[in-house]
Amino acid sequence: MPQSSLTVTDNRTGRQYELPIQDGTIRSTDLRQIKTDSGDFGLIAYDPAFMNTASCRSAITFIDGDRGILRYRGYPIEQLAERSTYLETAYLLLHGELPSRSQLEKWIEGITVHTMVNENIKKFIDGFHYDAHPMGMVISTVAGLSTFYRDARQVHDPEVRRRQIHRLLAKMPTIAAYVFRHNAGRPYIYPDNTLGYTANFLSMLWRMSEGTYAVHPVLERALDVLFILHADHEQNCSTSAMRGIGSSGVDPYSAIAGAAAALYGPLHGGANEAVIHMLNEIGTVAGVPAFIRDVKAGKGRLMGFGHRVYKNYDPRARVIKRLAEEVFDVTGRNPMLDVALELERIALEDDYFVSRRLYPNVDFYSGLIYQAMGFPVEMFPVLFAIPRTAGWLAQWEEGMRDPEQKIARPRQVNTGPGVRDYVAMSKRD
Ligand code: CMC
Repeated sequence: MPQSSLTVTDNRTGRQYELPIQDGTIRSTDLRQIKTDSGDFGLIAYDPAFMNTASCRSAITFIDGDRGILRYRGYPIEQLAERSTYLETAYLLLHGELPSRSQLEKWIEGITVHTMVNENIKKFIDGFHYDAHPMGMVISTVAGLSTFYRDARQVHDPEVRRRQIHRLLAKMPTIAAYVFRHNAGRPYIYPDNTLGYTANFLSMLWRMSEGTYAVHPVLERALDVLFILHADHEQNCSTSAMRGIGSSGVDPYSAIAGAAAALYGPLHGGANEAVIHMLNEIGTVAGVPAFIRDVKAGKGRLMGFGHRVYKNYDPRARVIKRLAEEVFDVTGRNPMLDVALELERIALEDDYFVSRRLYPNVDFYSGLIYQAMGFPVEMFPVLFAIPRTAGWLAQWEEGMRDPEQKIARPRQVNTGPGVRDYVAMSKRD
């Protein structure tokens, strides 16, 4: 049997070290024994942007980026998108198994009773400027929720955590709908708990004076599938933020606000918004070659393309591309689809993109669907944040239960000056 270890020779000292290998990893802390002398701190792994560092052990989501595979708790994303619902998928992420019928009913009931938000929340949403970005409002409002649930600070109590998980899953769509209505200058619509999770969200967004909002079943299902596809994606930027902030022991509302802030950026959840801006800028199919030339010349990026982990077609993009056709049958075809299809066609043949293994990611087509459904582009990252809440919470819960986890606190390579004496102002010139 070959040894499951790594032998390292430190050429500075000639000493050899045996580092155990477990699950294809070595422990960075095992490097610390490698010292030049007793005063040496020991070797540190330097990994800016965490290109090759596992920060946790996780049983939630599996990605094989080379083969374009995504599974939640072992279930292929394509099967969940085809057969599951968002709330069932959220249960799966959080509990590890698909629920029985009665477990699912209890789960849905436990979430549905929490869809209302405190009336004061409406007041502070009112305080935002009429054209405030919805994601900024969502981030602030979720952070504000922590002040309403003082019990949420007892993060080491599993029952308290369970309660906040129900609340957060239930209230994210309500907050998202309220900020949308605020931008639109329309009255807030209370949740209708006779409707399902996604239908209720659509009702809070679009209902006007009618008693009950008639949700189009194709659009309801399409949004639910989009929610499934966005529910988790292992240790991405926002999830790492969730785990990192949660590791300090803060309440989950504050941690979700931080995770949502990470999601807001254009390189992460803001990319679907950036895709629409890019398509508008290109304008027509005829404008695609010139745009591709500019990207290759380093003038900007092809938004919705490329991924840190996927070096193959993002499996979520494949499902979304199919879903777009179903949605467009109802809403009419988004005229920008042709520009997107042409961009994809050219990029998939072009050596610049092929050699860098850049393929469409989840954000490339999702924005076109959201736009066809009537969402303004600024709502797109919010539509990502709602379902990702399940993933953030599942990862937070897993982190809270992991006895190996401590407060997240990376090291640095110090490049600052050595010690020096304070210089009086009169002597600084
Ligand atoms: N357009 C043009 N070139 C690109 C792109 C792109 N979208 N993405 C990467 N590259 C090039 C990059 O310039 C670099 O080339 P070179 O080696 O010549 O310097 C090479 O590909 C590797 O790129 P990188 O920046 O080192 O890759 P990364 O893993 O750090 O970045 C990424 C991943 C997703 C931030 C990046 O691909 C990107 O900016 N994509 C556009 C934004 C986007 O669509 N983001 C959504 C990601 S999926 C959903 C989510 O996570 O929220």
